[in-house]
Amino acid sequence: MKEIGGYFELELNEGAEYHNNSIRLNTGRNALEYILLANNYNKIYLPFFICDSLLEPLRRHDIEVDFYLIDDQFEPIFDFSTIEDASGFLYVNYFGLKDSFVHSLKQKCKNLIVDNSQSFFSKPEPNTDTFYSARKFFGVPDGAYLYTNKPLPFPLDMDQSYNRCLHLLMRKDIGPQPGYGSFLQNEHYLCNQQIKKMSRLTQAILCNINYEKIRKRRIENFNFIHENIASTNKLKLSTDAVYSPMVYPYWCTDKGLKDRLHKNKIFTATYWDDVKKRRTADSLEYKFTEEIVYLPIDQRLTKRNVALILKIIRNEYSR
Ligand SMILES: Cc1ncc(COP(=O)(O)O)c(C=O)c1O
Repeated sequence: MKEIGGYFELELNEGAEYHNNSIRLNTGRNALEYILLANNYNKIYLPFFICDSLLEPLRRHDIEVDFYLIDDQFEPIFDFSTIEDASGFLYVNYFGLKDSFVHSLKQKCKNLIVDNSQSFFSKPEPNTDTFYSARKFFGVPDGAYLYTNKPLPFPLDMDQSYNRCLHLLMRKDIGPQPGYGSFLQNEHYLCNQQIKKMSRLTQAILCNINYEKIRKRRIENFNFIHENIASTNKLKLSTDAVYSPMVYPYWCTDKGLKDRLHKNKIFTATYWDDVKKRRTADSLEYKFTEEIVYLPIDQRLTKRNVALILKIIRNEYSR
């Protein structure tokens, strides 16, 4: 029986999760591990343009990896007829901008694994192994969703996250800077974990989010930036059907932009330093890491914030 009386717990609304028909897990990389084990894959094709965390399950289970190239549309340069029966092919829905491509890829790519870690709101293709990582879009310590038809042949323990929320609480209470160390500690903790079920706490927080409001704000911010700077963006991305943007990738010739934004307390992520050890400086992947500025467009940014970013880009504002 449930305990009654005594002290109160954190009060959260009892809403619905966005991916409420999926398997709830601890992290994106563990969702990939689940897929690899459930399908008995002994090899995986990964893009060179990826972060190293996805290599963890491959090392753990001695799974062979072959890296593939992508073009300037973030699409694989690859002969899909060469995929073996026991190999998976992972494609990242880059920055939440590749929904239509994922749909077309499904028609021609065997054993496709869609990594929607950067595209939380995208719907999965039918009968396609697809995973999501919640903390790339929301204030949770961990959590992943997985769509697959193949169950794992062994039971999973449940994760516990209560002692890894300090950075979330600190940021809310006293601002981003003091909590940064705890954020990094949590990222470190998530390395080399077993596959676990999502913690009750993470699930409860994910039941408490206004998903549609967040998605709409992201799209508004993305479109506002795009309308203003698309003409100077070396990336010519199709943005007509953007549904789940993560950031706005801006490839420009302004080498000082990232520092200028930083000086004005606008922080941009790097995707991914790990790539630079896999590829040479003249490669597209290396340039994507080194030269593209990934502008924030998330739900915390108001239209005024975005307008400020545009001013900094145009060199019309400095603190
Ligand atoms: C594209 C991509 N996929 C998967 C992951 C792994 O997700 P998680 O950190 O939840 O394991 C990451 C980064 O961490 C990522 O950048």
